[in-house]
Formats: sequence, C-alpha cells, structure tokens
Amino acid sequence: MDYFPIFLKLADEPVVVVGGGEVAARKIDLLLRTGAKVTVVAPELIESLASLAAAGSIVHLAAEFQPEHLNGARIAIAATDKHSINAWVAHQAERRNIPVNVVDDRELSRFIVPAIVDRSPVVVAVASSGDAPVLTRRLREKLETFLPQRLGVLAKLAGKLRPAVKARVEEPAARRRFWERFFDGPLASDLLAGRSDAATVEARVEESLRAASESAKPVGEVVLVGAGPGDPGLLTLRALRALQNADVVLYDRLVSTQIVDLARRDAERIYVGKAPGDAHASQEQINALLVKLARQGKRVCRLKGGDPFIFGRGGEELETLAAEGIRFEVVPGITAAAGCAAYAGIPLTHRDYAQSLTFVTGHCKGETDKVDWDLLARPGQTVVFYMGLGHLESIVARLRERGVPAERAAAIIEHGTQATQRVVTGTLADLVHKAGEARIESPALLIVGEVTRLHDALHWFNANGQRGDEISALAFTNEGRLSA
Ligand SMILES: C[S@@+](CC[C@H](N)C(=O)[O-])C[C@H]1O[C@@H](n2cnc3c(N)ncnc32)[C@H](O)[C@@H]1O
Repeated sequence: MDYFPIFLKLADEPVVVVGGGEVAARKIDLLLRTGAKVTVVAPELIESLASLAAAGSIVHLAAEFQPEHLNGARIAIAATDKHSINAWVAHQAERRNIPVNVVDDRELSRFIVPAIVDRSPVVVAVASSGDAPVLTRRLREKLETFLPQRLGVLAKLAGKLRPAVKARVEEPAARRRFWERFFDGPLASDLLAGRSDAATVEARVEESLRAASESAKPVGEVVLVGAGPGDPGLLTLRALRALQNADVVLYDRLVSTQIVDLARRDAERIYVGKAPGDAHASQEQINALLVKLARQGKRVCRLKGGDPFIFGRGGEELETLAAEGIRFEVVPGITAAAGCAAYAGIPLTHRDYAQSLTFVTGHCKGETDKVDWDLLARPGQTVVFYMGLGHLESIVARLRERGVPAERAAAIIEHGTQATQRVVTGTLADLVHKAGEARIESPALLIVGEVTRLHDALHWFNANGQRGDEISALAFTNEGRLSA
C-alpha cells in the first residue's frame, strides 16, 4: 500500500486552498461538507466561489500566494493552473509539516483525495494511488449504483440505536448477531426502500431488542454452502453472505483458498479435506465437529466443492444436524458437471446429440457395482462420471462390454473452471491413453457422449492468455478433430 487511508475530521478547522478556479471549487465543495473553515488564496475567484465568499461560507484572500498564508492550516490544497505556484505551495507546506495535496500531481502531493461515494455518515472512498484515475471513477460509478440512496438514513438510525443496543444486549457476539440480523432483515430493507420511516423502524427495533436481550445464549447454526467448482466468480451471492457471516468455516479439499479467504478476517478456518487415500478427518468426526461448534453458539459455514447435495455427502451431515436439533440452511452451488462443461464449451444436452443427462459416481468398486451400466450404455445421452479418473479404464471397459461403440466421444476436464484447466477429448478407444499421456490429475471429470465433440468449436476459456486452439495443439485433444 503506497498511501495510508484515513478519514480526517476537519469541522471548524482551518484549511487553505490556493487557486480560485473550477478545480479549486470542486475541492472546496467537498471541504465545506466536512464543516472545515476554508480560506481561498487567489487574486480572483470564479463566480460560484465569489458567491460563497460573499455569503461568508469561505474567506477570500485576494492575493498572490505567500508562504505565511499557510500558517495554522490543518491541510493545504494547491489548485492553481500554474505548476510553479503549485510546487511552491507544496514546498512551503512540507516545510511546515502541513499535509498538502496538489490537484492531479501525486509527485508534489503528500496526500491524495480519493473518489468518493457519499451516503453520509457512510462514505466509501476509492483510490488507485494515482495510477488509474479513470478506473477509480468507474469503480465509484459502480458503487454509486450498487449502494442504496437511503443508506445514510439507515446508518444514522443505527448510530442512534447503538447505546440502547449496547446496554441491552451485553454479550458482544449476541450484539454482533443482532446488528447483522438488523441490517440483513426486513426492517432495514423497508427503510432503504422508503417503505418505512425511521420512527416506525425504531419502534419495531424495540421489539426485536426485547427478544434479543431475553435470549442471552446465542443459538448456533450451520449453513451448508456449495462453493462451486473452483472459480471464485461462480460463488453465489448467498454463499458469499454465509461466508462473511460465519464465526467458523469448515472447508473441503476442493475449495480453493481464494474462496476461503472471502470469510471474515477473524473467522476460524478449519480444514477437513479428505484427499483420496488419505485419512484426514472422517465423516463422523466432521459431523461431530459441526454439532459441537453449533452447540457453542457459533455460526458455522460448511463449505463444500460444487454443490453440497451432489456427491458431496451434504445429506449425511444434515441428517446428523437434524437429529441433534441444530438449525441449518443449504446454499446450492454450481456442480462440477455444470461448471466444467460450461468452461470446456461442452453443452451437456443438445437437441442433435443428447436428450438426457446422468451424473454417476465412478468412485469405488462397491458404488460402481450398483450402477445400471445397461442404462448408461444407451445412445442419445450424456453421462458425467464424478470421481472417475482412478477407474477410467474399468469405466471404459464396462461401457464397451455393454455395446457402446469404440468411437463414442468422451472428454476429461481437469481442474475445471480454474486457471489450470485442461481438457482432453477423444473416444472410448483412445481416451485412457490420452489421459495417461497428458498426466491428467484429480480433480477431473469424465464426460461420455457425442456432445463432447462440440468442444472443438465451442471452447472459449483459458485463463493463461493462450487461445483455446493453442491449448488443443498441445496434443491434449484428438488431432483428427482439431480445427487449427
Ligand atoms: C466428492 S466429488 C464432489 C462433487 C461436488 N459436490 C460437486 O457438486 O461438484 C469430487 C469430484 O468432483 C469432480 N470435481 C469437482 N471439482 C472439479 C473441478 N474443478 N474439475 C474437475 N472435476 C471436479 C471430480 O470428479 C472430483 O473427483
């Protein structure tokens, strides 16, 4: 970080602005909003500033800048159109240890003025250390549209209620929970939408305060969250909220660190991943830990790769919680099949090639034995095998035994949706060999069906800056079907 971000209290404090044109006027407008006592040093003022001076809102020193004009100033702003004068102001301010900003000149400035979104008392400031002012303006515009206009009304009401809430909900965790429910709840949204005024909301808050102070012991809960296949951009808004509200995050091996990092900074993070062949934490231990944490009154975010109800054992965890009477919620995620197929340019259904879609686990002998292979062998469908990499050879053999032709198209997607994604396409005849040659590793998804042929024409994603056909040329795809 090149600059230390602060908000400076300037009410009734003397501030000197050198320059009397439009640029100075914009800064003065901001300064006046803080209640600063502004003195403008300039031989002449533009009309709007002259009116402010006439109304007594600012003091005008009709003179060329002299160093002593800075005496006593808390901060100074140089906003003339002459570089030499601005540099002189900056030099003199530095000599006096007065923080100085020279408009549009970061070399001469001690501080920079960020782009702001003003929903006072909430103020959002955006700066790029002077590197990309247009980008910061864009960000500001986005925030302008994103932040409700009446956010300030909500913040003011919260400020008014704070002492009462503090007195009546003594336990800090319960208090935080009260505020989170308040800001996420219907009272706040009514106020933000203008459906309710502050006085009505205040009365309704009184009611929830009574409830909060009566239930002294915080109630824990578990939110079972699907984190998607890897790309953090595929996280849902609800998943993000669950992550940010959590006191503890329990996460699996397939959840990327970028996603875990979205949790609150003070949230405890517990890794409970199970790598193939590795006995890290058993399912029973994870279930017991979820119960224990919720009983301690914690809000637990249980993060799972993809969707928690698709080969994620989410159902088992919830059965335990339900049996123990623990409150829970489920946030669905983008399952690996949907994410990987989309990022590989493979539509899972297509009117010409596949009218049905099946997700199967290729995990272990016991489970694959329960699979109806005759059903999977039928034409006109797409079959997605999760956890099938280790059993690729036997999956292909079983399909072939059931009469699936050797030329049936298939693909393997490794690290789908992530920067390291690779796609190997081929047929049942050569896929095992190609996957071996490319040294495909877990996690990888096997898709069997004619839709995989569309990859050549529809692939679009690769995070390494290469074109998709360049990746194909690395011999991961079936050369016979290469367009390049
Ligand atoms: C235990 S299952 C979890 C599935 C998850 N609940 C879901 O809905 O995607 C793990 C398997 O999902 C597949 N998988 C998950 N993420 C993947 C990714 N980013 N790329 C490829 N396959 C993935 C692999 O087959 C992996 O072995």
